[in-house]
Amino acid sequence: MLPEYGRPVTELLAELTALKAADLPVRGGKVTAYVYDTGLPEVHEAAHRAYAEMLEVNMLDPTAFPSMVALERRVVGAVAELLGRPGAPGIFTSGGTESIMLAVKAARDARPGAARVVLPVTAHPAFHKAAHYLGLEIVPVPVDPVTYRASAEAFGDALDDRTALAVVSAPSYPQGVVDPVEEVAALAAARGVPCHVDACVGGWLLPWLREAGAAIPPFDLSVPGVTSISCDLHKFGYAPKGASVLLFRDAELRRRAYFASAAWPGYTIINATVQSSRSAGPLGGAWATLQALGRQGYLELGRRTLEATRRLVEGVGKIPGLRVLGEPQAALVAVAGSPEVDVFVLADEARRLGWFLQPQLSYAGIPANIHITVTGVTLAGVDAMLEVIAEAAEAARRRGPAEVPEGLPELIASLDLDALDDATFAELAASVGIDLTATARPGTAAESGAASQPGMAVVNAVLDALPPATREAILVRFLSVMYS
Ligand SMILES: Cc1ncc(COP(=O)(O)O)c(C=O)c1O
Repeated sequence: MLPEYGRPVTELLAELTALKAADLPVRGGKVTAYVYDTGLPEVHEAAHRAYAEMLEVNMLDPTAFPSMVALERRVVGAVAELLGRPGAPGIFTSGGTESIMLAVKAARDARPGAARVVLPVTAHPAFHKAAHYLGLEIVPVPVDPVTYRASAEAFGDALDDRTALAVVSAPSYPQGVVDPVEEVAALAAARGVPCHVDACVGGWLLPWLREAGAAIPPFDLSVPGVTSISCDLHKFGYAPKGASVLLFRDAELRRRAYFASAAWPGYTIINATVQSSRSAGPLGGAWATLQALGRQGYLELGRRTLEATRRLVEGVGKIPGLRVLGEPQAALVAVAGSPEVDVFVLADEARRLGWFLQPQLSYAGIPANIHITVTGVTLAGVDAMLEVIAEAAEAARRRGPAEVPEGLPELIASLDLDALDDATFAELAASVGIDLTATARPGTAAESGAASQPGMAVVNAVLDALPPATREAILVRFLSVMYS
């Protein structure tokens, strides 16, 4: 693996290019999750150069590298201005999950003894992860079965003295709808409970959509009772990955997120984030993206996103066998199938046509669906996207639903997954046609390519047939085998 002697940079870059040949494309709008494309190459170029410029600055010690303090103040300041409280204290983090982890930690430490996080079933799993890491308990509340917005009434019943934090999303990722932030924040405030708004995906989008004419309810730090809000710049801020901002109502709550240690004979530790040593590259990239686009740039992207979403929702409504779940308020659209059109098969068919549509499993009474995040680049290709969805839906209708091997979910559910070693698990997967190690083998990734990946419809159908805890156990095994 490690060469005896150093290799030239051209050779290294060529190898990276070859390795990436089987990846989903990060530009062009044919991948409707994971990546955010403005469609403006010069903006991304500015970000890349600024990222590289700041790459080797270590955010471990702000006194050593004042450039990073100045940049962080500017980036956090821009987010605070957009999200209803100019000057609000904040932290630049590596992403939504880290912002959420810190919001939960701050709330926990602000309310000693309170150990519950109350959240809608549509909230991002980062809260479950935070609760798991921080020793808290999750109390899920239902969402309305038609609108998919959290039930304020259920929050009212669930919040009490034991609650460390109430969580709402603006919007939720699965259906792209905004929870009743004002109602829940008021209920929380009345009980002295902090309220976090997860605006990871929507924080840097909803204000532009509102300015472009969309009806967006109040959701930010201007809402009484909201004590913190997370906003990922590496999503609709279009910054390179590793960029999120967590804002607090006041500096006292922000201090609860910090960590300091003098319990060793080395350098003093004072961390604003979970990570200690970390590159200032993402901060430089985020700052440059904000500067390269400016207010008008984001507003124009907001207009384009709004128009593309409107056309997508309208177009999907005309495709037989498909329907949009709820009324998406942002740019995230969930498309459910029907007994005739299996969305998992549809996703496989779309993949064959060169498009990635993200499958979402059924959960808490919400049907399985495919997720589409509309970004700045989508408008230019929205007709092509609709044609692909229609063609893939037609092919899925012809193929029929994915067939779950008889007895397999029952067999899996009956296994003690912890007792299986990775090799046995891989064999089990291979018996249903899934080669878990294919993409990880050196030399095979480029040749195999996306088109020759095994169909995922059966895998998704099997997962869908299993209870969530078994799904989780299976997913951990997938990952372990993939890296073996
Ligand atoms: C609403 C919401 N919260 C949190 C996250 C987690 O963000 P990250 O993947 O940056 O950790 C996401 C990611 O899509 C999200 O949509």
